[in-house]
Amino acid sequence: MKDKKVLITGGAGNIGSHIADAVIEEGAKEVIIIDDFTRGREENLAWAVKHGNVRIIKGDICDRELLSKSLKGVDYVFHQAAIRITQCQEDPLLAKKVLIDGTFSVFDEAIKAGVKKVVFASSASVYGNPSYLPMDEKHPFNNTTFYGAGKIANEELAKAFREKYGMNYIGLRYFNVYGPRMDIYGVYTEVMIRWLDMIKEGRQPVIFGDGKQSMDFVYVKDIARANILALQSDVNEGIYNVGTGIETSLNQLVKSVLELTNPDLTPIYEKPKNLVIVSRRRASIEKIKKELGFEPETGLKDGLREMIKWKEEQPRGSEKE
Ligand SMILES: NC(=O)c1ccc[n+]([C@@H]2O[C@H](COP(=O)([O-])OP(=O)(O)OC[C@H]3O[C@@H](n4cnc5c(N)ncnc54)[C@H](O)[C@@H]3O)[C@@H](O)[C@H]2O)c1
Repeated sequence: MKDKKVLITGGAGNIGSHIADAVIEEGAKEVIIIDDFTRGREENLAWAVKHGNVRIIKGDICDRELLSKSLKGVDYVFHQAAIRITQCQEDPLLAKKVLIDGTFSVFDEAIKAGVKKVVFASSASVYGNPSYLPMDEKHPFNNTTFYGAGKIANEELAKAFREKYGMNYIGLRYFNVYGPRMDIYGVYTEVMIRWLDMIKEGRQPVIFGDGKQSMDFVYVKDIARANILALQSDVNEGIYNVGTGIETSLNQLVKSVLELTNPDLTPIYEKPKNLVIVSRRRASIEKIKKELGFEPETGLKDGLREMIKWKEEQPRGSEKE
């Protein structure tokens, strides 16, 4: 990546900004960020701006002209911009616009600009409820959400762009990503962030459901590293899980969070809201280990510690802006 020009869509968000840091550490000549700042924040890019040559463009990935201009001379693209699963359920048309049309535009303009490789964010949401565990890349698409539908479409589009134009691509199916720079300000904050706010106020963290629902939590810096490995690899078409292979229930997660914050508190349980909730998740990471050399490095306790420390340093809580 040395001396290369890299563009990151959604680069002011959680994962995108960690990719920006990693790309700069790898010696990139220039990093261009396209983000509409619906969730992204300039603060997330503070380290990158200080240590690298970063150009931040506030704009929408659906804006073809902007993409075409910004992609001139770009060697590599990391495509991360998307809206959250909850927002996709609330506004399916926007989900189609950003996830499907936006991704089509990013791929199409990347091809026109002669980009050498595109690494893009897919999601474990494509799998929906498990037919078996751990979920490998051949697991069926049991998805029933607009978000998952969008991510499946992204993978299929990548294949079609490869077939027609020879686009080099890797799609990464992230499992449950957590760590510093998770959105703490917006409407669509995630459960861990809400728990930390409740705990800080001395309130009991709320679990929706019985807490037996499980996930595969993967630390954001491991995700960024997987992106770098995907870009550097000789593999030029492929879809890979990125997780840890470890299943953690919400009950176990809240226990770990409370141990690190306020062991005197216990969770309370409420009826689940109407979003489709996947019952269990555990990634098979054999393929990415073997073909891209990826191993997760940060365990849940260490990752949570880092996240809690970062959250404590933030000037405000997760009140809405
Ligand atoms: N966080 C997770 O657990 C997880 C899991 C699976 C997949 N993913 C995927 O990883 C990617 C990054 O997720 P994240 O957790 O960093 O989320 P994030 O919300 O922090 O980052 C996404 C960024 O995209 C930007 N964005 C949204 N719509 C845009 C548009 N139309 N044009 C330009 N920018 C736009 C947002 O402002 C934000 O900065 C997304 O594609 C997401 O679907 C995330």
